[in-house]
Amino acid sequence: MIVISLANQKGGVAKTTTNVNLSGIFAEQGYSVLIVDADPQCNSTLYFLDPNLPPNETLAAIYDGGITEQTVRQIIRPTRISRLDIAPGGFSLSARVWEIVQDKKSGLRIDEFVKQAAKHKKYDFVFIDCPPDIGIFTMGAFFASDYILIPIQPERLSVEGVEQLMMKVQEFWKIRGENKPQILGTVTTMFHGQNRSHKEWAPKIEEICGDLMLGVVHRSSAISIMSDAGKLLQEDRPNRKARPFQQHIKIAKKMLDRLKDNGELAATR
Ligand SMILES: Nc1ncnc2c1ncn2[C@@H]1O[C@H](COP(=O)(O)OP(=O)(O)OP(=O)(O)O)[C@@H](O)[C@H]1O
Ligand SMILES: [Mg+2]
Repeated sequence: MIVISLANQKGGVAKTTTNVNLSGIFAEQGYSVLIVDADPQCNSTLYFLDPNLPPNETLAAIYDGGITEQTVRQIIRPTRISRLDIAPGGFSLSARVWEIVQDKKSGLRIDEFVKQAAKHKKYDFVFIDCPPDIGIFTMGAFFASDYILIPIQPERLSVEGVEQLMMKVQEFWKIRGENKPQILGTVTTMFHGQNRSHKEWAPKIEEICGDLMLGVVHRSSAISIMSDAGKLLQEDRPNRKARPFQQHIKIAKKMLDRLKDNGELAATR
């Protein structure tokens, strides 16, 4: 099982969009995938479920006591996509923050949950959607993760956010006592070739990220239309041939190649 957090403290850079579409692609390619929605905004959850779930059926429940097999069964649900399950987030996650800051071990809860989930079902991938900060939930997600995938919009604040995030990850290694999670790669998102700011900041991303770059997703109305409808790109037949979906497929392939190079996945699959 490989656990990957989608993170960038900058808001609105396509963490969720990248998370759900890549998860869907991996599931379609035969991998067993779990999305963990660790963002109180619960945007990944909105693609699959009503956000008004009872708190004990969302990730909030992991902060309410011991994480047992029963807790996991209560939280994880299948989605309409084969082989893709979700541990939904919910607005109730925000309501747990006060209890969480008082509990020294709360930072380990997502990790405990993911480990229990692995007993529940043999997942190949767990994708954790993080909120736009480096706070309690993101740190908890990092504790559970092998890798971080960073979506970056080619604009100043987003690019500067990445440099800070990379420094934070190295500080985090000291807390965790091992050089984990590693940065699996970066995805340049919402790229628009005619946008002057994008033209200016895209080379800067290359300079900072170098070989970490996995690919580019152009700005596209198909993506925003599908997101608004709560649908994955793969769910619409005409979209499957179009550039946005194909760009996601390329990124997924590069991720798999990188994981195979790292000895994380059987090279034959
Ligand atoms: N390539 C794209 N082209 C056009 N719109 C996009 C693209 N990628 C994402 N969007 C839109 O941008 C908005 C923000 O995307 P998303 O919610 O994935 O960002 P986020 O980083 O998860 O945000 P937050 O920080 O709030 O969690 C959404 O409305 C989404 O539909
Ligand atoms: Mg999001």
